[in-house]
Amino acid sequence: MSMNLIILAAGQGSRMNSERPKVLHEIAGAPLLVHAMKSGASLEPEKTVVVAGVGAEQVEAAALKWDDSITTVRQDEQNGTGHAVLCARAAMADAIGDALVLYGDTPFITPETLAAMQAARTYADVVVLGFDVHDPTVRYGRLVTTGEALDKIVEFKDATEAERAIPLCNSGVICADAATLFSLLDDVTNDNASGEYYLTDIVGIARARGLSAAVVKCDEAETLGINTKAELARAEAAFQSRARASTQDDGVTLIAPDTVHFAHDTYIGRDSIIEQNVIFAPGVTVESDVRIRAFSHLEGCHVSRGSIVGPYARLRPGTELSEDVRIGNFVEVKGAMLGEGAKVNHLSYIGDAEIGARTNVGAGTITCNYDGYFKHQTTIGADVFIGSNTMLVAPVTVGDNALTGSGSVITEDVPADALALGRAKQATKPGLAKRLKDKLRAAKDALKKDE
Ligand code: UD1
Ligand code: CA
Repeated sequence: MSMNLIILAAGQGSRMNSERPKVLHEIAGAPLLVHAMKSGASLEPEKTVVVAGVGAEQVEAAALKWDDSITTVRQDEQNGTGHAVLCARAAMADAIGDALVLYGDTPFITPETLAAMQAARTYADVVVLGFDVHDPTVRYGRLVTTGEALDKIVEFKDATEAERAIPLCNSGVICADAATLFSLLDDVTNDNASGEYYLTDIVGIARARGLSAAVVKCDEAETLGINTKAELARAEAAFQSRARASTQDDGVTLIAPDTVHFAHDTYIGRDSIIEQNVIFAPGVTVESDVRIRAFSHLEGCHVSRGSIVGPYARLRPGTELSEDVRIGNFVEVKGAMLGEGAKVNHLSYIGDAEIGARTNVGAGTITCNYDGYFKHQTTIGADVFIGSNTMLVAPVTVGDNALTGSGSVITEDVPADALALGRAKQATKPGLAKRLKDKLRAAKDALKKDE
């Protein structure tokens, strides 16, 4: 049975107190909406429709940036979750099979749970994801059941006291045959406490038509919806603690797990060691047997086996470290490829560069890659020795086995095997320091006498 996704992301999210649409607030470096899209993608949907409304342009751009094969539709007025799903009707006209509705502000539904819902469709026409909360004051919709059968969903606002006492709550995730879903929605009205078209009403309508409905249950943590900044922070913490645990399960050593922060897509290989206070922004892959030393920040980079990075290193997007590379303290690397065994150990900036195997870059070296308007490339061969405090004014090329003298400003290409010196020649004047100091001291003493 083929599957299609409808992701609702049109809501206001006023409790975030923000100019930014709610679904674009981030956890682990990715918008809430992207987390929902990622979990939905585990079902390998034929078609994914994202319903945007508040901040639609930004929401659509974020959705398409993550997956440009999806379709976006607009809900110009937020008349409720049922109305939002109906906005996807035209986009879903050619969809065959099932449709599963997800919320863009509910980032943590697992692939296993979605698979269980898909499986439940073999025996039920409408499948709803529920969870237990033993608190009659929580404002979720309640699932009214008779035995295994789901009779209807009542919204909290419309529920009686007896219904509010039901522990089984609605997550919002619903699955049905796509054509059936839209047909059921045709009968939904806005005659309720909110004056909205509730998606949840389709269950009662389905039962009245003689269709069956069932509940699949999951843990409340999975269906966590995010409405406030405090909930966002709690969700981030929950994500991080799961990421720490699963990284350790993958055979990675975290010396102080609580101080390491992961992005939604961080990948670290087995037997790597991550020291204290390391931050992974999006787009990082680290191979096996790597050591990331304390206080390093990595983003959009790839670190190969055997490399050691940090402490206090910053790897920015486009950094590619081959095997056994050394990146030391206070080194920043961006858009650069370092060959096997290359070393940049101290206080350097390497940007828009290619550095060959076994090349050693001395302390304080800078690739001067930007002229205020354009970025330029630095190319350094293999087995090169770049002297400390070399300024490589790009575009510039240094050939294999070459050497640059410390403090050089290299503005011209250096051929292989050459020594390049680009600094003022030293002049030494015997006794001149002493004579100068004597003169200055005498002048200062004269001033003091005058006072
Ligand atoms: C909804 C459910 C409730 C469930 C709860 C779980 C309905 C009627 N109620 O309530 O049973 O317990 O979720 O969190 O479905 N949205 C739109 N357009 C709209 C309205 C909402 O796109 O017109 C989107 C929102 O952006 C959000 C999602 O739908 O992502 C849920 O909307 P929200 O208003 O938060 O629903 P709840 O009142 O929480
Ligand atoms: Ca909600």
